[in-house]
Amino acid sequence: MQKKIIIANWKSNPDAPGRAAALVEKIERAAKKIRRTMVVIAPPFPFLIPVGKNLKKIKLGAQDMFWEDVGPYTGAVSWHQLKHCGVSYVIIGHSERRKLQGETDDMVNKKVLAALKNGLRPILCVEEHENKSAAPSTLERELTTVLQGVEKKWLKNLIVAYEPLWAISTNPNAHPDTPEDASRARIHIRRIIASRFGSRAAGEVTIIYGGSVNAKNLRGFLEAGNMQGALVGKASLDPAEFARIIEECEKIS
Ligand code: PGA
Repeated sequence: MQKKIIIANWKSNPDAPGRAAALVEKIERAAKKIRRTMVVIAPPFPFLIPVGKNLKKIKLGAQDMFWEDVGPYTGAVSWHQLKHCGVSYVIIGHSERRKLQGETDDMVNKKVLAALKNGLRPILCVEEHENKSAAPSTLERELTTVLQGVEKKWLKNLIVAYEPLWAISTNPNAHPDTPEDASRARIHIRRIIASRFGSRAAGEVTIIYGGSVNAKNLRGFLEAGNMQGALVGKASLDPAEFARIIEECEKIS
């Protein structure tokens, strides 16, 4: 049986390495007995090495990467460097990067290709418009561009995170999606991928949900929503809450 995946997206938190170390220690303790859940922590770049050093059960993720190897790319962190830090998962195309850093579908496409070609598992974020009824076309536009050049054999390493914009906890009036609507989005995502690669290959893609996930609502997304995991922002910075999320996931898997 495939493991469910819970990814902690720390965003630009915490402010100091000591706090990152304390957080990871508590989460590691909570994850000690996990058997059916894959837990990934994605800290900010400067904390990758110190956090990674203390991980046993948990895998290390990054929050972004550049598509080139190494070279004259000021400020960029390449997949190559991430691999040297022990990173195996990378969040790509998060809506905060699209909005605040001007990331486009073309850029996201290059990053996804570079990750897949070079053995990193991309957690590709696809969003939904403020206006729910616009969702199908947004998902279609994003996935069509972003998956250009992707080979069928790579799909088993692809994770797609369905993250409605209005559900992300930092947005005003944020509220989680309903498991039923998330499930509809999941079916839609799988259908878009299947129209390109066939339904068998599309079935190998892991689809998860993100947006105001907590220990209470996780079950709905995994059961009624049929999601294969969750991308967790705010709640991943509270070690007690994140421990409950992991525990809940273990019960459901
Ligand atoms: P949230 O963030 O859990 O705080 O809503 C999710 C995300 O932005 O990935």
